[in-house]
Amino acid sequence: MQSLLVTGGAGFIGGCFVRQCLTSSTSVVNLDKLTYAANPDVAELRDANHTFVHGDIGDGDLVRRLFATHQPDAVFHFAAESHVDRSIDDPTPFVATNVTGWVVLLREALRHWKSLSGARREDFRIINVSTDEVYGTAAAAHDFTVADPFRPNSPYAASKAAAVHFGRAFFQTYGLPVVTTTSSNNYGPFQFPEKLTPLIALNAMQGRPLPVYGDGLQQRDWIHVEDHCLALHQLLAAGVPGGLYNVGSGRVVSNLDFVSMICQFVDELQPDAAPAASLIEHVTDRPGHDRRYALDTSELRGLGWRPQLSLEEGLRRTVRWYFEHREWVEKVESPGYGRQRLGLGEDSAADR
Ligand SMILES: NC(=O)c1ccc[n+]([C@@H]2O[C@H](COP(=O)([O-])OP(=O)(O)OC[C@H]3O[C@@H](n4cnc5c(N)ncnc54)[C@H](O)[C@@H]3O)[C@@H](O)[C@H]2O)c1
Repeated sequence: MQSLLVTGGAGFIGGCFVRQCLTSSTSVVNLDKLTYAANPDVAELRDANHTFVHGDIGDGDLVRRLFATHQPDAVFHFAAESHVDRSIDDPTPFVATNVTGWVVLLREALRHWKSLSGARREDFRIINVSTDEVYGTAAAAHDFTVADPFRPNSPYAASKAAAVHFGRAFFQTYGLPVVTTTSSNNYGPFQFPEKLTPLIALNAMQGRPLPVYGDGLQQRDWIHVEDHCLALHQLLAAGVPGGLYNVGSGRVVSNLDFVSMICQFVDELQPDAAPAASLIEHVTDRPGHDRRYALDTSELRGLGWRPQLSLEEGLRRTVRWYFEHREWVEKVESPGYGRQRLGLGEDSAADR
């Protein structure tokens, strides 16, 4: 049976990936610090093939022990501070986890990989899950290719770009078989409600204002989290060591159109409520906000991957999921998060 070390497997995307692994009889060691963004239910997931470890990727002794004990065939790295707005208020945790923690993980992965021999060494991979935000803003009509330079504009994106460079350096310098993905915006169930999709869906269901940053004409490629995770399985099987792969659905819409679609799906669930779109409020834009992300995904499509869900179908399902899982939302929000505006840089760490 294949054995994986997954970091950040209690998070939105990592959690989806772990659930997919467990349906295919893959053994998973799930290392997660359980930050505010984690789904606490994952830690209690009872499955013979799932071992949950509460800990930090930056804890080298712990990570070394996990490699020695579980002898993983591959590593999937999702653990991160992931919210751009929070990175504007304080970048330091983003450097600690997304850069320093990742380098600790790389160092221990290298130690483990060097201890392997034969086919196990040949087939070992470490998949670094990164973001299209490393490229910065795409010019009109340009889809980022993997040959484009990185021009990150937020502290979050800068930390993720640094991590990609460290992955590259470990491949070039030591031969460690790192495969890197740059994914577009994900949507789906189990996402912490600070992110656009659940924030808008939940506020709309509760008749609360729907904040749209600036004019709302920023463009994003949206991919369902399950399609993203299927791409990651594919890259374990066929990704080239040292390779960089863009992951996106190819469906690029403006934030305003995306929010309007969510409103339409909420209206379908609550036909007697006032139209949700009447709650839209344009608010001060995010500092440094990228206008456009769009991706050329030729390398991934060349491996045979295609998204399975259209944006309409995936988003309608997602909105229904939040409608039917209010208890989960209350549970994750309860330790002090009230969907307040973050990331204006007014309450930045430098001012405290
Ligand atoms: N959500 C998106 O749209 C998107 C798009 C592209 C790339 N990504 C990347 O995908 C990865 C997963 O994103 P997500 O949306 O699931 O994030 P998330 O915030 O939902 O989950 C991150 C998980 O990492 C854990 N974690 C944080 N710091 C840790 C540490 N030091 N040690 C161990 N665990 C730690 C958290 O507890 C949480 O469970 C991230 O690397 C993110 O940058 C996300």
